[in-house]
Amino acid sequence: MSGLIIDGSVTARAGVNIALVKYWGKAPGRGPQDLNLPAVPSLSLTLEEPWTETTVRFDPEAEEDSFVLDGEQLGEASLAQARPVLERVRELASVRAPFAVESVNRVPTAAGLASSASGMAALAVAALRCAGLEGDLGLASRVARLGSGSAARSVFGGWVAWEGREARQVAPPEQLDVIFVVAILDAGPKPLSSRAAMLRTASTSPYYAGWVEQARHGFDEALDALDRKDLGRLIAAMEASTLRMHACAMAARPAILYWQPGSVSVIRAVERLREKGLVCGWTMDAGPNVKVLCARHDASTVVAELKRIDDIRSILLSGPGGGTTATVRS
Ligand code: PMV
Repeated sequence: MSGLIIDGSVTARAGVNIALVKYWGKAPGRGPQDLNLPAVPSLSLTLEEPWTETTVRFDPEAEEDSFVLDGEQLGEASLAQARPVLERVRELASVRAPFAVESVNRVPTAAGLASSASGMAALAVAALRCAGLEGDLGLASRVARLGSGSAARSVFGGWVAWEGREARQVAPPEQLDVIFVVAILDAGPKPLSSRAAMLRTASTSPYYAGWVEQARHGFDEALDALDRKDLGRLIAAMEASTLRMHACAMAARPAILYWQPGSVSVIRAVERLREKGLVCGWTMDAGPNVKVLCARHDASTVVAELKRIDDIRSILLSGPGGGTTATVRS
C-alpha cells in the first residue's frame, strides 16, 4: 500500500465482461455498502476489448466531483451511478477532496455491450489507487460493485465468479482458447435497464423464486465444466442460465422482452452450426444482441454463418482479457 496521490493522477483500464451464468436479481442489504448484492452466483469471462480507460485525480479546489465521459461533462443524473464508488473510496481513505474523473469508452458505437461494468471497474481501481489503497483486488471488486453489480467481475481478468460481496478469478484467461463473436443487431428502442428489469422481475415474475433456487446448481455445473476445460458442457450451462433468466423476465408484469427477430435468427444459426458438429453456443443480456461462444479456431466459420443474417449490423470478436491495469502519473 502506498500513500495518497495528491498531485498526480491514476489511469486504469478495465475490459467488459460477458456472463455465462447470469446475475439477475439483488439480495436485500442493510446499508450503502450492500448495494448490488447478488441474489444468485454468476460466472463471466472478461474480454480483451472493448474496454474503458479512466483517469482519476483529487481536485481539492473543486466543490464537488466532476466526470467527463468521452469528452462530455456528465450531469448529476449520470454521475449518480459513480457516486457510491467515489464516496466509498473517500470514506475508506478518510479524505474529503472531490475527484476529477475523465473516462474514455472504447466500446464501438451502439455495440450494445454494457460499458457500466468496465466503466465502474476502471473507476474503482483508479480511485482506490489515487487514495493510496491499491493492491487488494477483492476490495476493488467490492467498491466497483457499488456502481454496477457486474463491475465486480470486470476488476479481474479471465474467468470470474461472483457471489456475495466480491468476485474472484476462478481460472486464468488461457484456461480455454475461446472467442466471443458478438452479433450486433439493429437495436431499436433503448431496452429497459438491467437494474429496473431485475427489480421488476423480482417483484412480479412468478418464476423468480424458481430462478433463484436453481441458480446454484447451474453455477456449480459451469464451474466444473470450466475446471475440466469442457467447452460443450460450459456452453450447455450458459444457454440454460440465459434461457432461464430471460424466461423469468418475460413472465414479469409488464413483460420484459429483450429479444428481436434477429436475435432468434442468430440462435437458429448457432443451432445449424451445432448440427454440423461445431461446438458453439449463444447468450444474451439486457438487450437484443447475441454473443456466440466458440473455440478460437472456429471463429471464422461462425462469422461466415452469421454474415448470412440480414438483421446483423456488425460483428465484433473478442477473446479472454487480463485484469485491470493502473498507471500512476505524478
Ligand atoms: O450489473 P448490471 O446492472 O450491469 O447487470 C448485469 C445483468 C446481465 O448483464 C443481464 C447479467 C450479468 O450477469 O452480467
